[in-house]
Amino acid sequence: MPVELREHTDIDFSFTPTENDHLVSRLREITANPYVDYPAFDRDVGRALDDGTVPARFADFCAEARAWPRHERPVITLAGCPIDPHLPLLDYSDPVADKRARKHTYVSEAFLLVYARLMGQEPIGYINVNDGDVFQDIHPWDRMADTQSQKALQDIGFHKDLANHFVRPDWVNIIGLRQAATSYVFTSFTRNIDVLDALTPAQREILSRPAFHTPFDDLSVAGANAELGTADVHPVIGGASEYDIRVFENRTIGLTPEAQQALYAVVRLLHRNKRRFRILPGRFLGEANNESIHCKEVVHYDDPADLRTRWLQKTVNVADLSQHARHFVPDRERTVNG
Ligand SMILES: [Fe+2]
Repeated sequence: MPVELREHTDIDFSFTPTENDHLVSRLREITANPYVDYPAFDRDVGRALDDGTVPARFADFCAEARAWPRHERPVITLAGCPIDPHLPLLDYSDPVADKRARKHTYVSEAFLLVYARLMGQEPIGYINVNDGDVFQDIHPWDRMADTQSQKALQDIGFHKDLANHFVRPDWVNIIGLRQAATSYVFTSFTRNIDVLDALTPAQREILSRPAFHTPFDDLSVAGANAELGTADVHPVIGGASEYDIRVFENRTIGLTPEAQQALYAVVRLLHRNKRRFRILPGRFLGEANNESIHCKEVVHYDDPADLRTRWLQKTVNVADLSQHARHFVPDRERTVNG
């Protein structure tokens, strides 16, 4: 295999085919529609957790993984995860509406929620992103194909999710639904400590200053149900935590020549330390959003149509809903008003 197609990531946990079969047949029975009645869906998934559907082996793994130091092990990878046996080919001109209309089982959504529950995470939605849906599609959309967003067709630069939003997620979890075996589209990630450790003290000092600017993300702007205003100037490091790196490759700019130079150094280190992972069907990537940073790399595909039908689902999650309560839409306990 040519070197550029090689993956660099191990799988932390794999479901056996028997475990996968059992999970799929139980989770596909869930009829509550998460896009219409999230609380009912949440209750149904809770029942599946209580009735022994989830193998103890996986619950034990999650209990252990929760204790991993986030800055050292910010990424968790799974394989053999349950996904829906029948997945519609979505309309490229409005894939989200088509998904809501034609995906009638919710196995992938249920698994994302099972994982969040076992890991002590709370999924949230944003009123400006897919109208507040908790479960979001990473799926190309013609009118956003050339953006740097979850609806893009091609590469997306390194970024943390919703970095300059007033509610920043603590974790981003992604499950693969469809990707051709011959497509080498990677979700690549870098541990922030690998970048921070390699910077000089002088570079770290410059990067800690509010001398950088990043426009709001393309998807929040395009879906603007709530006014966003103008993004603030910000530091690149030391924001959300001591390990935080707040940058969007090719979008963030340094406002002075020295700030821009330090930013170039960060981007170079992000690429030098990245690990590549293909989120193939049934694979899963869970990433700590303040301790790690990710990008999408389209390295090879046989047929351009395969890029248009690639489909992942994701949730963004916080540790504690109550910390963000003042930002939620009234009467919707996990929908951010922005
Ligand atoms: Fe992202």
